[in-house]
Amino acid sequence: MSREILVHPDPRLLERALEVERFGSELTDLAEEMRRKMFGVGVGLAAPQLGVAQRVIVIDTPDLAIALVNPVIAGHRGAVTSTEGCLSCPGLEVPVMRHREVHVRGYDLSGGQVVISLRGLEAVVAQHEIDHLNGKLIATLEPANTA
Ligand code: NI
Repeated sequence: MSREILVHPDPRLLERALEVERFGSELTDLAEEMRRKMFGVGVGLAAPQLGVAQRVIVIDTPDLAIALVNPVIAGHRGAVTSTEGCLSCPGLEVPVMRHREVHVRGYDLSGGQVVISLRGLEAVVAQHEIDHLNGKLIATLEPANTA
């Protein structure tokens, strides 16, 4: 099955995605498709961007390639303003306030527990993608005050 990346204001982008309860080939296929869809055009993607209301994100930066299932931010430190774009908000670049470092808990595609500390670009991408799982887009967030 091939899915397209949804674009704001598609209402599916504004919904809270559901917890993944079943690990298996459907999930790994979904993650693989997410990776393919963002390859060369983005550093992260969340399942709702493909119209799948499940809590799955992929991050793919030069330093980290990972899929996270049911990710939650379990801790954070510091603050940073990041200027972000989004494949679901073409042409838009918005300054957003983010935590500088995050501690993320979740599962890998096999259902194994993952605890990972992220900083820099990867921390920002994780927060951006987890926002997608909660129906938040850079187009709807309160922009950071950069004045
Ligand atoms: Ni996005």
